[in-house]
Amino acid sequence: MATSLFRRSVSRVSSSPAFKLLNARAHASEPQTQQVEPTARDSSVLKTFQIYRWSPDYPSKPQLQEYQINLRECGPMVLDALIKIKNEIDPTLTFRRSCREGICGSCAMNMDGCNGLACLTKIPTASETTITPLPHMFVIKDLVVDMTNFYNQYKSIEPWLKRKNPPPVPGKEVPQSKKDRAKLDGMYECILCACCSTSCPSYWWNPESYLGPAALLHANRWISDSRDEYTKERLEAINDEFKLYRCHTIMNCSRACPKGLSPGKEIQHIKNLEMGLARS
Ligand code: SF4
Ligand code: SF4
Ligand code: FES
Repeated sequence: MATSLFRRSVSRVSSSPAFKLLNARAHASEPQTQQVEPTARDSSVLKTFQIYRWSPDYPSKPQLQEYQINLRECGPMVLDALIKIKNEIDPTLTFRRSCREGICGSCAMNMDGCNGLACLTKIPTASETTITPLPHMFVIKDLVVDMTNFYNQYKSIEPWLKRKNPPPVPGKEVPQSKKDRAKLDGMYECILCACCSTSCPSYWWNPESYLGPAALLHANRWISDSRDEYTKERLEAINDEFKLYRCHTIMNCSRACPKGLSPGKEIQHIKNLEMGLARS
């Protein structure tokens, strides 16, 4: 699969027409700038989008392409603007989306320096907005990144119920108290959008060896599940200098999560359990 070498070349660029683009991608989790509301008297509100473009069919350097739309003729979300641009201006613009409701996680991208879901992010009312792919990921085309490594890391934590004993009633589900079920709150809601992992500096520098906040949040989800009987084995499997301990509690991940989850907190919970395991 052809992917852009963009991630590898970030540090070599210091000043160029693409610098603005690179700068935006490097500041994945900085807060958005103050926005200006359009006046009610405007008959049209023109808004400029600078959108990252790169295609394996024309493998030159990535560039920002400018599009202008009238916000009066567009839905309120960034995804609405992207769909309008694709439908009415440039059908070659490529991005992922499916549910349009913050459920599928496929429209994750970087908007004005912040990772988020395009379908849940209101169009900033500043005159210009820059949209780039999730930072430090290989680009397949335009805003579409290669998620293979991210999904493999998720798979590596074995995200399914593992039992040593059969269910109490053969052929039936394994019951769980309401109290134990509540321990999964803040984790089961994850939609695997990768906004957190791609905002984490430790993940940027060690994307192959550090599991990253999303996979570790899911590791904790199964470690914390009262029905799972492989807690010790799960903890041992990730008790690794790189897989787990590249997390330095910077908490960019928790700031970036569009579902309001806190992967950094869940990682700390795993580290506490690892300490308990080492003492036992
Ligand atoms: S808390 Fe850990 S996982 Fe989250 S951004 Fe910081 S280093 Fe990355
Ligand atoms: S924890 Fe949040 S940001 Fe990270 S993958 Fe899950 S939903 Fe996305
Ligand atoms: S389109 Fe599904 S989360 Fe945005």
